[in-house]
Amino acid sequence: MMKKPPAPTQNQFDNKAQAWSARFSEPVSDLVKRYTASVDFDKRLALFDIQGSLAHAEMLATVQVITPQDFADIRRGMAQIRDEILAGQFQWLIDLEDVHLNIEKRLVELVGDAGKRLHTGRSRNDQVATDIRLWLRTEIDTLIVLLQQFRHALATVALAEAGTILPGFTHMQVAQPVTFGHHLLAYAEMFGRDADRLADCRKRVNVLPLGAAALAGTSFPIDRPQVADLLGFDDVCRNSLDAVSDRDFAIEFCAAAALIMTHISRLSEELVIWMSPRVGFIDLADRFCTGSSIMPQKKNPDVPELARGKTGRVNGNLVALLTLMKGQPLAYNKDNQEDKEGLFDSADTVRDTLTIFVDLVGGIRVKPEAMRAAALQGFATATDLADYLVKRGVPFRDAHEAVAHAVRECELKGCDLADLSVAELRQFHAAVQDDVHSVLTLEGSVAARAHIGGTAPVRVREAAQKILAQTA
Ligand code: ARG
Repeated sequence: MMKKPPAPTQNQFDNKAQAWSARFSEPVSDLVKRYTASVDFDKRLALFDIQGSLAHAEMLATVQVITPQDFADIRRGMAQIRDEILAGQFQWLIDLEDVHLNIEKRLVELVGDAGKRLHTGRSRNDQVATDIRLWLRTEIDTLIVLLQQFRHALATVALAEAGTILPGFTHMQVAQPVTFGHHLLAYAEMFGRDADRLADCRKRVNVLPLGAAALAGTSFPIDRPQVADLLGFDDVCRNSLDAVSDRDFAIEFCAAAALIMTHISRLSEELVIWMSPRVGFIDLADRFCTGSSIMPQKKNPDVPELARGKTGRVNGNLVALLTLMKGQPLAYNKDNQEDKEGLFDSADTVRDTLTIFVDLVGGIRVKPEAMRAAALQGFATATDLADYLVKRGVPFRDAHEAVAHAVRECELKGCDLADLSVAELRQFHAAVQDDVHSVLTLEGSVAARAHIGGTAPVRVREAAQKILAQTA
């Protein structure tokens, strides 16, 4: 036979701080309290929580679920709470678990019954989903502006260096000459797509969950379009179960953030290589580097290295969020509380990184002589010689072979293709004419690639100017 549980006595524990304490017969331990609380990190949603609550209260007053006086009281209380938060005077209590309950408790302290009516027809489940979306919308807007500033900075350097030649690499082997401007504009393309991706993600962020309440909706005559309108949402979530449990929008954002950092990381890798004394293509401003505590000669590219490193955590946040969601049945589960720290961290990391990189790119000092010297090694114009023969009727495969022989000969002699005389070059193919050296110069090579998307200085200038105008 089952034993009857002891009847809970009144005031068995002094845990009245918790909104549901009436239902429980024993308090949670301090560790469990800490384990389940989110206020330490979700308090950064506070102003969005207030914004959402005010819209909800205004709607409740419009549909006469609360009185105009209640709404006025709630507004007054929230104004004071906002002031307290901004002044750093608000008392955040871990006993109150999260940002929502902390603010609600203070509201009740300040305005009494009106504060107790605020939560009518809503749940923390739709409340938190709304807060995150309001917050993320603002973050996305900031990041899009930063991405455009970054593209502007890249295009500014690209315009100045539209004619600066360096070797382009494949497999980290010298491939063909390109211009430094062209190289930088490749990144401007990536960050342009990143901005588009964020703008697209924003469309799905900017939809209102409020009204879904805990999961099934509410029996009160709520006006969801009014709340959406007040909060600047484009639409309302169409299914209450989905509204409270969907975190696709956060995953999409984390994926977009991971791609931004991946692009930053690729650029960082190049900056580190370019700045290595063995390469010496660029120098970074001292404010982005540090020295060594032991080796006096060192100037280390710390900022690009750290950005490359921080890409790991932003990629990790994406995987964490995907993993968080994969096992969850509908609708809300407490697991969802784990969505925030990674999401916040991704937004913070990308924001800080982009802010620094706008300045960092502007501070790149280009060393054109080193770039040129590197482009002159490694037979970067071999393809141009092959193309030259093709233009004189030689099939491309034959031209390729003839030039390969020439390159081999140069390697033996320790010289460049351009160092061979016309007569010497003609030994490799009879189609070689007196004008052959015009295509063996670096300038001739890049200028010849003047189609859309090519590395010719004229095209690079055009492309840079276009981006500068777009991002002005
Ligand atoms: N702090 C919670 C979160 O971040 C708020 C929602 C709580 N809902 C609940 N049913 N326990 O997800």
